[in-house]
Formats: sequence, C-alpha cells, structure tokens
Amino acid sequence: MIRKGFIFDLDGVIVDTAKYHYLAWKKLAESIGISFTEEDNEQLKGVSRVRSLEKILAWGNKELQEDKFMELLAVKNNDYLEYIASMDENELLPDVKRVLQFLLDSGQPIALGSASKNARKILKEVHLYAAFHTIVDGNDVTNAKPDPEVFLRAASGLEVTPLNSIVFEDSLAGIQAANNAGMTSIGIGNPEILKEADYVFQDFTEMSNEFLHQLIHQ
Ligand code: BG6
Ligand code: MG
Repeated sequence: MIRKGFIFDLDGVIVDTAKYHYLAWKKLAESIGISFTEEDNEQLKGVSRVRSLEKILAWGNKELQEDKFMELLAVKNNDYLEYIASMDENELLPDVKRVLQFLLDSGQPIALGSASKNARKILKEVHLYAAFHTIVDGNDVTNAKPDPEVFLRAASGLEVTPLNSIVFEDSLAGIQAANNAGMTSIGIGNPEILKEADYVFQDFTEMSNEFLHQLIHQ
C-alpha cells in the first residue's frame, strides 16, 4: 500500500473560528472607516494576518505607516483572542473527531497546515495537539496560501510525496495552495466557492468512512 498523508487546515475545518476572524476583521476595518462584508471576508479566509490587513487597506484605498500597521494587527489579534478565550471542544466542527479517529485508527499520519499563528494554542485548547504527527502554522512559513509552502512543509514532515497528500480546506486560497502543491484537494464548505477542489463536502458529516477508506487505498 502506498503511504498517504492527510493534511488539515485549522480555522473553518477543525474548529469553528472563521466567524471570530470575521468579527474581529470587521470591527477593525470599520474602526478605520472601511466597510467590510461577509463577501470581503471570504477573500481573507486562509490568508495570513499581515496579508489580510494589506488587502483591507487596499480595498479602502488607505495607506498606513509601519508602526500603525503593526498596531492594528495587534488590535485585531487581541480582539480575536478574546473571542476564543473560553474555547473548548464545543468549537470542534461536526464529525471532525470521527474523521480524525478513523484516519488514526487506520494508521494514517495526519498533519496540520494552517496560516494561523494561534494554531498551536487552539489545538491545545480543544485537546487535539497530540493527535497531529506534524504541525505547520503561520509561524513556520514565509509564503501565504495560495502559495503551496505550508502544505509542502507538512507533507515533508509526514514523509509523504505531494502526490500522496490529501488536503482538507475551507478557503479558496487553501484549495489553490493544495492544487499548486500537486496534492488532492478536498473542500469543506460551499461548493460554489470551492469549485476548484477535487472533491467538496458541505461538512464532515457528509464524508463517509468509505470515502476515507478509498482515499487511503487508491
Ligand atoms: C487562517 C484564517 O487560518 O489564519 C485567516 O483562515 C487568518 O482568517 C489566518 O487571518 C491567520 O490567523 P492568525 O490567527 O495568525 O491571525
Ligand atoms: Mg481555513
């Protein structure tokens, strides 16, 4: 059997934190007079903190000095950390545990591939830190999704080739990163937004163990 590796994004795939990133960015954008909708937010999913603020400023035709830029990044992250302060396993998305457990019980290596610098903290809070064989997060990469760096590093940590890597992602940038890496991309969320993915499921409750079994053995 060929060795496979399964790479999970964090925000919006494992935990229901995408809504908190949205709320914190909306508050930040509006505080500097830039309107911010859910459609705008869709373009920030999977995108690093720095790149997200650059995009918001570009939408609002604003430029900031470096120190102000850094200050706003800190404000956004503090707001976000407040939202997730009381986080526990209730924030795990439906059937995430079943999917992880099925893969682990089948002897499959699993990795995290996230743009977030808060990823390790969140995994500890939901008691999943020890489940991952490899963790690559926003502290480990220089190039943001859709650049494939985060997933290539995760695959290398798992000692699998990109061709034998399977990525679960809720963002378009993340699906493009997986495709750019030459990996199998599985979208979790809206099929309209994630149409570049090899497969799309609304959420993990729609993904059967038979499907996972096929991924392992194909
Ligand atoms: C991604 C999120 O996982 O991480 C983005 O989809 C977020 O919304 C990015 O901006 C960076 O996260 P953090 O926690 O480092 O600000
Ligand atoms: Mg995500």
